[in-house]
Amino acid sequence: MTVPVINRKWTLRSRPETTVSEEHFNFETETVRDLTDGEFLVKIHYLSFEPAQRGWLNDVRSYIPPVAIGDVMRSMGVGVIVDSKHSDYKVGDRVQGGFGWQEYAFSDGTGLFPVSKIPEDMPISYPLHIYGLTGLTAYFGLLDIGKPKSGDTVVISGAAGATGSTVGQIAKLMGCHVIGIAGGQTKCQWLMDELGYDAVIDYKSESVDERMKALCKNSINVFFDNVGGEILDSALVNLSNYARVVLCGGISSGYQTKALPPGPKNYMQLVIRRSHMEGFIVLDHVERYPAAIEQLKQWVDNGKILVKEHMLDGIEKCPAGLAGLFAGQNFGKQLVKI
Ligand SMILES: NC(=O)c1ccc[n+]([C@@H]2O[C@H](COP(=O)([O-])OP(=O)(O)OC[C@H]3O[C@@H](n4cnc5c(N)ncnc54)[C@H](OP(=O)(O)O)[C@@H]3O)[C@@H](O)[C@H]2O)c1
Repeated sequence: MTVPVINRKWTLRSRPETTVSEEHFNFETETVRDLTDGEFLVKIHYLSFEPAQRGWLNDVRSYIPPVAIGDVMRSMGVGVIVDSKHSDYKVGDRVQGGFGWQEYAFSDGTGLFPVSKIPEDMPISYPLHIYGLTGLTAYFGLLDIGKPKSGDTVVISGAAGATGSTVGQIAKLMGCHVIGIAGGQTKCQWLMDELGYDAVIDYKSESVDERMKALCKNSINVFFDNVGGEILDSALVNLSNYARVVLCGGISSGYQTKALPPGPKNYMQLVIRRSHMEGFIVLDHVERYPAAIEQLKQWVDNGKILVKEHMLDGIEKCPAGLAGLFAGQNFGKQLVKI
């Protein structure tokens, strides 16, 4: 490139013990270096935000190493190639990968993920949610572990979030009776009116225990849990026999290191109800991503799955985008437009 390109980026300054905020990151500016052979430069258009990113800041055993102090904050992103010395990638190609919280990223083509190039007919942000790890988490978590059957009662916590709202819509497509737990009337109304849920529980204004007893006493066949804590305990006492509890995440813990989340008090219900509780990590299903994305695409194209994005504008908003997930500030998939 002839004109020097300036990159702005967020790097990790320190590890939060409790809630994450801007003070844990440094905002830096640098001149982008020249390309070397076999590389290309991506101008990032959108970054994806998920609760797991808070967990990646903890220096603990996990499914991937923690973000190192001084490194660009890890994040999935999508963008367009603006310069290339790579034979397989040309200027104008649209790509996705773990580009991090920055405006420009180098790549040699490895680690572009879940698919290397974004097809022309796909909205550029969709690989960050419905055709990316969010949609795939919903798909594999519900279908592989939840194993829903037509007529089953499926209860979902974090139901209005990016993952939860996809789980609920797939469960409806499977012929299930779907109950969502979410925070606030607006989100709950959306689940009922637009996504076709059969019932909702507003955990911020209602007793989850009481509402679960009223709506699905001893009849939950699948509990898809994004939240953990007290909501998981309420679900455990309302399982049917041979129920499946899908442990997708535990956002109520804030993924903090200062205090461990409470253990489930009612876990003996799994014995009494001959039931099954299983965690999973979406990254374990890479070889099945293409088929799953194809199925998700069919559902979206046919209007059977609706997608909602919650957009913040500007790279400056990255820390706020992450912190906001733990306060329910996002209504739909949290993205930052760069
Ligand atoms: N296992 C895997 O491979 C995998 C992969 C991706 C994501 N996940 C997990 O999936 C879950 C959803 O992630 P996402 O990216 O789709 O985020 P999201 O659901 O779009 O956003 C997080 C939502 O969590 C809810 N929330 C926040 N604090 C809460 C609390 N204390 N109690 C109850 N609800 C709370 C908020 O909704 P309300 O306004 O309704 O409170 C917020 O909007 C997370 O637990 C994440 O870690 C797992």
